[in-house]
Amino acid sequence: MALQTGFTVSEATLIATAISELARNIVSYANPGSVTLKPANGANGAVGITIIASDSGPGIADIAQALRDGYSSSGGLGLGLPGVRRLMDEFDINSRAGGGTTVTVTKWLP
Ligand SMILES: Nc1ncnc2c1ncn2[C@@H]1O[C@H](COP(=O)(O)OP(=O)(O)OP(=O)(O)O)[C@@H](O)[C@H]1O
Ligand SMILES: [Mg+2]
Repeated sequence: MALQTGFTVSEATLIATAISELARNIVSYANPGSVTLKPANGANGAVGITIIASDSGPGIADIAQALRDGYSSSGGLGLGLPGVRRLMDEFDINSRAGGGTTVTVTKWLP
């Protein structure tokens, strides 16, 4: 889908990495959940791709901490969420303890 949108192979690979990190977090912390891809259409004719990773797991009590490089509650590298944030143009996380997590990110075509 990223290639159909017009992204290069290397951009599509970065998008695939973001999808995989978000999916891996769901599997690790909040199974089950879902990852949905959809075309993004911005103002001024911008096009891109939006990824929505959603689950009804335990949620994230401290979002700022979860976004910090190196923070992991599970002995992981703690680079998943901050990495996704750097790879994508827009990053939104909605989560609260006990209320599940939704991460919505968009990459615009340059
Ligand atoms: N969907 C989620 N539900 C609940 N907690 C989450 C979810 N995604 C991330 N977290 C919390 O945020 C922390 C940071 O996530 P991040 O992906 O950055 O690192 P990690 O998964 O621990 O390690 P890495 O992805 O580098 O292997 C996690 O350790 C976990 O506590
Ligand atoms: Mg992770």
